[in-house]
Amino acid sequence: MTAEEHASANPSSTGCVTRSGGDIEGAWRRVVRRRAFLGGLGLAGAMGPAAALLATDAGAASTAVTRGDVAILRFLAAAEIVESDLWQQYNELGGVNGGNPSYIAALQNLDGDMPQYISDNTDDEMSHAAFLNAYLASKGAQPVNLDRFRRLPSSRATGARQVGRLTNLQHLDVDTSWYTRYRSAENPDLGANFPQAITIRNQPAIPLNDSETPPGTPQPVPPATAPARRMQAIADTAGFHFAFIEQGGSSLYTTMALKCSSLEVLRIVVSIGGTEVNHFAVWHDKAGNAVVVTDPVTNLKFPDLNAAPLGGETFQTNLIMPEPCDFLREGLPECSVIRPSTVADAGAVAAVRAFTNDRLFEGQPDEFMDTLMALAVAADAARRET
Ligand SMILES: [Fe+2]
Ligand SMILES: [Fe+2]
Repeated sequence: MTAEEHASANPSSTGCVTRSGGDIEGAWRRVVRRRAFLGGLGLAGAMGPAAALLATDAGAASTAVTRGDVAILRFLAAAEIVESDLWQQYNELGGVNGGNPSYIAALQNLDGDMPQYISDNTDDEMSHAAFLNAYLASKGAQPVNLDRFRRLPSSRATGARQVGRLTNLQHLDVDTSWYTRYRSAENPDLGANFPQAITIRNQPAIPLNDSETPPGTPQPVPPATAPARRMQAIADTAGFHFAFIEQGGSSLYTTMALKCSSLEVLRIVVSIGGTEVNHFAVWHDKAGNAVVVTDPVTNLKFPDLNAAPLGGETFQTNLIMPEPCDFLREGLPECSVIRPSTVADAGAVAAVRAFTNDRLFEGQPDEFMDTLMALAVAADAARRET
């Protein structure tokens, strides 16, 4: 399905989008309808001055970029800015120089190196965003700036800077189906669906304040007190959220690579995409180490994924290498690949949808969603020109 078809699948109308309540799917549909309306104006109309900019490098044909290349890179820059914002929140609280000892201790129950990995992942995302915007500028294209939307509240817990945020990590619905998907021989691009490994609804992935999770609380395994259980469930949620974000990046970059025209842009996309896969692989391993706990506030349960009735091919925690799966079409042998990798399942619009369903943008205004969706629709519309 093309981006236009994707958008047109919903009847055209515009409406007010509210993300403070639970009607995420309804809010999403309204955003897509508005995009369908803008699509009718043509991409240049939808994107403004940046879309009108067809950056070329007359002196070096091999590095000339097309309008589609610019659209791909602009959406990826936006996605990296979003990633950087959420990773910075994790880093402030749980990174190697993080400021919340109890959160750090709970994360280290998944792996002693978690703070280092969080800090390095944060650095990577910031480098991706900065590079993509600098490259766009070097080609005469408009970089992406989402600073005006940094208005969401920070955590009040010790360690969090009190600054405006782009993303919400304080009440997430984390899709954990990536865990069962990568253990399956089926492929979402061929219509397969996958169960959640853990059902995580309306759960913080960072500590909210110091009253329910005092920052000096010891975090033994198993956690001995209610505050320790709460903090461990928050850290376990973060562990699954890390992998959710990075598997999305792995699929997005794979999908965008197929649309690049310039070999240099293709080099950028596959080279950054490789690090997203690297991130995902690490977080996939760590999520399986989530501590068995029940959150005393939300009743969220992290069970033993290796014990009956779980365990086996679908849940065993050390099965972190991607299982060979169906790929491209019937009749071909199973192949161990990134999945999904189609525009419908893993394109730019699909990425925004996944972020939205994650409640990552809860509290953001219509203008933010319109800005992000304009970039996404343009990226999905890009076509490889040979
Ligand atoms: Fe990235
Ligand atoms: Fe990433």
